[in-house]
Amino acid sequence: MRSKIVAGNWKMNKNLMETEALLSELSAKLPDTDAEVMVAPTFVNLGVAVRHLESSVIEVIAQNMHFAPSGAFTGEISGDMLMSIGVDTVIVGHSERRAYFGETDEILSKKVAAALEKNMRVLFCFGEELEERKSGNHFKVVEEQLKKALFTLDSKSWNQIVLAYEPVWAIGTGETASPEQAQEMHAFIRNTITQAYDSGIANKVSILYGGSVKPNNAKEIFSKPDVDGGLIGGAALVADDFAAIIKAI
Ligand code: PGA
Repeated sequence: MRSKIVAGNWKMNKNLMETEALLSELSAKLPDTDAEVMVAPTFVNLGVAVRHLESSVIEVIAQNMHFAPSGAFTGEISGDMLMSIGVDTVIVGHSERRAYFGETDEILSKKVAAALEKNMRVLFCFGEELEERKSGNHFKVVEEQLKKALFTLDSKSWNQIVLAYEPVWAIGTGETASPEQAQEMHAFIRNTITQAYDSGIANKVSILYGGSVKPNNAKEIFSKPDVDGGLIGGAALVADDFAAIIKAI
């Protein structure tokens, strides 16, 4: 059985007080669920969030990390630093990191390797842009992104990988991929992994969908057989909405 996962990516939102308030509200409203629930606050509030959620099932994860173990990289954070405060899962490859911070497939593959080396779990994001979908290249783009960042991994490393398909045109736009579009792509991703590795690995890896998942569309998206959960942006900042999305899974 694959893990069901609902992860909230808070991006650059919520100061210290707001972080504590949202975590308290979320803890109070958390529905009973078999799914893994994760939140990714900003770096400065990770330690606070870890302590706040010490006795909670909610896992605190990071939005990013550098590939180097340490050194002269002003402003960056290493996997070791994350592990040392109890954060052992990291988002890598979010489209905003690719678009605004120049993260190439090559950089991402180094980040994945560095995180795995530290025994961390990687929530790897990828997905096509609007033009690429319009021109019918979305499958090819997604395949290339997977190939370049992940397909050099050995089979065992896949135990530490979670995938998040996030079509760029659906992120923060209010426009969601239809449940059928999500299912079609997720099935394609699984098939691509089967060809590169085997069906055992393909059927075991959780593939989340991300891009304008809201309480009113989550259930339908999550009902698709190859959709194992969601990576949630905007709706993760509102406790009622995030709780409703968790309930939907
Ligand atoms: P959104 O963001 O839910 O606000 O579209 C999703 C994401 O960026 O992971």
